[in-house]
Amino acid sequence: MSDNLHQLRCFGCGVRISGAEAQPDFRCALCGDLFEVEYPGWGQRGGHDRPNPGALKWLWRERRCSSEALDHSGVWRFRELLPILDSFGNAVTLREGNTPLYHLTRASKALGIDQLFAKHQGMNPSGSFKDTGMTAAMSVAKERGFEWVACASTGNTSAAMAAYAARAGLRSLVLIPEGKIAWGKLSQAMDYGAVTCQLKADFDGCLRLLTQIVKEAPIYLLNSVNPYRLEGQKTPAFEIAEAFDWNVPDHLIVPGGNLGNSSALGKGFRELHELGLVARMPRISVIQAAGANPLVRSFANNHGATLEPVEAHTRATAIRIGNPASWRKAARVIQATGGWCLDVSEAEIAIAKAELGAEGLGCEPASAVTLAGLKKLRVRGAVAPGETVVLLLTGHTLKDADYTIDFHRGTLLKEDETAGLEAEIACLQRNAVAVDPTPAAVLAALKGRVA
Ligand code: F0G
Repeated sequence: MSDNLHQLRCFGCGVRISGAEAQPDFRCALCGDLFEVEYPGWGQRGGHDRPNPGALKWLWRERRCSSEALDHSGVWRFRELLPILDSFGNAVTLREGNTPLYHLTRASKALGIDQLFAKHQGMNPSGSFKDTGMTAAMSVAKERGFEWVACASTGNTSAAMAAYAARAGLRSLVLIPEGKIAWGKLSQAMDYGAVTCQLKADFDGCLRLLTQIVKEAPIYLLNSVNPYRLEGQKTPAFEIAEAFDWNVPDHLIVPGGNLGNSSALGKGFRELHELGLVARMPRISVIQAAGANPLVRSFANNHGATLEPVEAHTRATAIRIGNPASWRKAARVIQATGGWCLDVSEAEIAIAKAELGAEGLGCEPASAVTLAGLKKLRVRGAVAPGETVVLLLTGHTLKDADYTIDFHRGTLLKEDETAGLEAEIACLQRNAVAVDPTPAAVLAALKGRVA
């Protein structure tokens, strides 16, 4: 029997098609909008395809002790809620997911929010949240017999895609903006064997070009316009709900770039709610960098009804995106859950990243926008002390070591960016010091620190 129980529904005009009918660019032939995966059998209460909440909770917990490779994946462990393959035997997995949820002891004290946590998606096999989406969409590519897969990327998607393509035995093509991606990520794409093209274009230009290419050649597009990516990326919502014993946190805060991830997490929580696994949805807020904030502007201008692309500039290169593909889906998630959409400055991002680092939880600059955003929300009184808040950290700190070193050396930010924040920044900087190779010199350096 086929495990495949899904169809695709256009987010814009609502037309429904089978998975096999999707166009190479995953845009609706009628209105040009993106698709969402849906499972018709879930709608019928008492229908034989509708998952049973109690049985699922039990099964998913049991799988944690299983010796089956598929059960070790934090994505496929929940496979009843992503029946997108003809056979789960085709799943391409690197044991992604099952990432840690850390209590933020220092930040919770500083902000007066006792129940403050970080879900660290940087602890995935290729070091970012993209792995959860890539395992799902790469499995579809393999099952459908593609030989080539491709993505445009600010770095993490390409690293994840190259790794999963290598595992699946497929060839991969990466389009990246020249000089605008962190070395850690570029090195991964090379190491995993992708054909890596650096273009004199930004991310939005790379994605536009790739959209044309996949219409001319049998190459499977693996950007988050591909709705199967979002099916994998919704599973951290299941992990978070499970970690809180199926009582969802009050508030989830997510960075926003191309806006696939916020859309996916919103879908994940919505499905849990609709299926009766949780009693409510968390508020979902999206934070962007001030220099790459098209969704923030959209909310300020017309409550998320239309979006004007911007020319994006931020050192958080992962979210340097001016024309986000999934903005309509993300806007819907924010509106439906009562979340906020706001932006943070370059200095606020750098400070928040160093604060997370000081807790022993390194992350990428793009991930640190979540803490920077929470600090702003707290000042506005939008988050109460008694709330349970989860920050989604999207990438590993080693992805962009240059950024971290520049911050601690004091060469990251310009004077006008740090105005008024000099003391706060100085407290966080831990530059390496040159000392003579003697005990006395090292102990003297220690004394300097204590002072
Ligand atoms: N955080 C990190 C570390 C990212 O790499 C990205 C996106 C985001 C946040 C934003 O997520 O796009 O779903 O809103 N990186 C993409 C890439 C665009 O190509 O790796 P989003």
